[in-house]
Amino acid sequence: MTMPSAGIAGVAGTLRLPPRIHVGFGVRAQIPELLAPHGKRVLVLADPFLVGTPLFDAILRDLEAAGFHTCVYTSIAPELPIASLDAAAENAATFAADSILAVGGGSVLDAAKIVALSVAHGGPLSRFYGENLVPGAVSPIVAVPTTAGTGSEVTPVAVISDPERAMKVGISSPFLIPAAAVVDPELTMGAPASVTAFAGVDALVHAVESFTASALSPDFAGVLPLFTGRNSLIDAVALDAAARLRRWLPVAVREPGNRTAREQTALGSLQAGIAFGPTGTHLSHALQYPIGSLTKTAHGLGTGLLLPYVLDRLRRDPATASRIAELGTALGCETDAAAVVRSIADLKAEIGVPATLADIGIDAEQLPAIADLALQSARLVAISPVPADRQLLLDILGRAHSGALDAKGSA
Ligand SMILES: NC(=O)c1ccc[n+]([C@@H]2O[C@H](COP(=O)([O-])OP(=O)(O)OC[C@H]3O[C@@H](n4cnc5c(N)ncnc54)[C@H](O)[C@@H]3O)[C@@H](O)[C@H]2O)c1
Ligand SMILES: [Fe+2]
Repeated sequence: MTMPSAGIAGVAGTLRLPPRIHVGFGVRAQIPELLAPHGKRVLVLADPFLVGTPLFDAILRDLEAAGFHTCVYTSIAPELPIASLDAAAENAATFAADSILAVGGGSVLDAAKIVALSVAHGGPLSRFYGENLVPGAVSPIVAVPTTAGTGSEVTPVAVISDPERAMKVGISSPFLIPAAAVVDPELTMGAPASVTAFAGVDALVHAVESFTASALSPDFAGVLPLFTGRNSLIDAVALDAAARLRRWLPVAVREPGNRTAREQTALGSLQAGIAFGPTGTHLSHALQYPIGSLTKTAHGLGTGLLLPYVLDRLRRDPATASRIAELGTALGCETDAAAVVRSIADLKAEIGVPATLADIGIDAEQLPAIADLALQSARLVAISPVPADRQLLLDILGRAHSGALDAKGSA
């Protein structure tokens, strides 16, 4: 049982989830059943790696056998530039799709949310940048992840690239939460080591940042912010996710064919999505957006690289240090904030996440601009359990650049 940490207010919680969630080997057999209430015409957005694979062909055959008409679209560009999404939305409109089946990594699941939004409410997409700007329901989505990482199958968030913006932009609304999530580890079995590592460590960051979120006390009389901060309903789920991912992610990276490792990381990633969707993530995410744009590195590479430095700085605050220490049992180390930081740094090394920002080609002179851009993600910065100003971000960035962890010296 998780008791409230010192200095933290009492009970407050919010959950917003798909009405149906299935997880486990074989649950993909539920897909026709889940699409059935929405009509017979299904736009299938599929990750390019799936084209011609027996697993994907079998999903399509099952749909046809159940009387569905499908239109398969696989031209989803990495990083989701908005122009490529317009073409997918046109496809959906011409086909008069009743629903969208999204099968793929987080990029494809996010693409499905954008297509569902465009079809229902028209463009330009920039109208919806930010949160709570989607005016109503979108086409129903059945989301089937093929990576264990983003949790997008259960979250209200889609992240896209707009060439007119310096960073990727988010569209966040409860209306974007899929109608159903189908998490079948079989679909992750072929993911290469780097995809497994970066997607998986991002899920761990979701678990840890939602567990350490600040208590925001939102006004329950009005429209709630998308991220409501410290969330009593997710504490146990976030800890369970962290435990599974810390234990099994290195195994999944080392032994891609290990079914238990794939099963456990798929469940951990889903739980982490359930945890952060209504709660929020904080500084590793705010800092990753500009770093990802500058270096063109994967989202999870950046959030995973940053997490130990973020926690190491935040643990100087005593209340936050005790909250971080509570993660120790889940991570299999002492219930001590420095030990938690070391455990996550060790995991990074085990799975091949670069140690420092210098390792991914960031120059020290770029750090001030990164801090300024990160501050623009105000809703993420607000989730930090310690108020984060430019100086604090620069401190984290400087240490992440040089590889300085206080926790390494406080064994
Ligand atoms: N919506 C959210 O809540 C949320 C949360 C975190 C991240 N994201 C976004 O998700 C994206 C990252 O998603 P991701 O980490 O799943 O990676 P991804 O979807 O970008 O996929 C990475 C690569 O792996 C391939 N791939 C995916 N599954 C595979 C499999 N089973 N076998 C072989 N290859 C496979 C893809 O084709 C692609 O080339 C980023 O755009 C990020 O911004 C969204
Ligand atoms: Fe993330």
